Amino acid sequence: MRYLTFALTKGRLAEKTLSLLERVGVTCEEMRDKDSRRLIFVNEEQKLRFFLAKGPDVPTYVEYGAADIGIVGKDTIMEENRKIFEVLDLGFGKCRMCVCGPESARQYLRHNQLIRVATKYPNIAKDYFYNRKNQTVELIKLNGSIELAPIVGLSEVIVDIVETGSTLRENGLSVLEEVCPLSARMVVNPVSMRMDNERITGLINALRGCLTDGAAN
Ligand code: PRP
Repeated sequence: MRYLTFALTKGRLAEKTLSLLERVGVTCEEMRDKDSRRLIFVNEEQKLRFFLAKGPDVPTYVEYGAADIGIVGKDTIMEENRKIFEVLDLGFGKCRMCVCGPESARQYLRHNQLIRVATKYPNIAKDYFYNRKNQTVELIKLNGSIELAPIVGLSEVIVDIVETGSTLRENGLSVLEEVCPLSARMVVNPVSMRMDNERITGLINALRGCLTDGAAN
């Protein structure tokens, strides 16, 4: 049997991903060791390999088949636009992609004005403004702390992830429009899906069963 390789997202999703996989009998104890500098972990008995990667790199590993399966946020899947199958909503990491800004920016959205939009997600923002709203905007790509942009006058609004809403509240900003809901998803390489169909479908079904039991939330 060949190894099935999992690309997991570092950071916020990692802990919940490992817990969910453990519940369906997919285990990788060594990965929980936070001090380890190892990049790849192997479960010899189950013929599984795991590695952690930056979110935006997970769809890349899966598209090229370097990983058979990925666990990654819907935001990243939408932004990266890779040739991968999205097979399951894992129900955790729930949040929303939103257009945010000061209340005073609401009028610019209403009147479809040519405003500046700062975001870590230029493809999602472009699709939203150009295709869904028919509003021409100037997109500015940032890499983090997006909420700063409207505060210091870099942009009128931002397109960003809102989870609890506390970052917005603490900085005097509000949700002005919702783009879409988000959560962690399982993605699969299309060739792996054909070659290892039985194993991968078995895993999807086990996870689905676990999720409908309400155990993951
Ligand atoms: C994300 C997001 C918001 C914040 C939202 O940033 O970009 O800034 O979390 O969460 P909240 O609604 O619960 O306050 P993250 O902390 O991942 O870091 P970043 O700003 O560097 O992108």
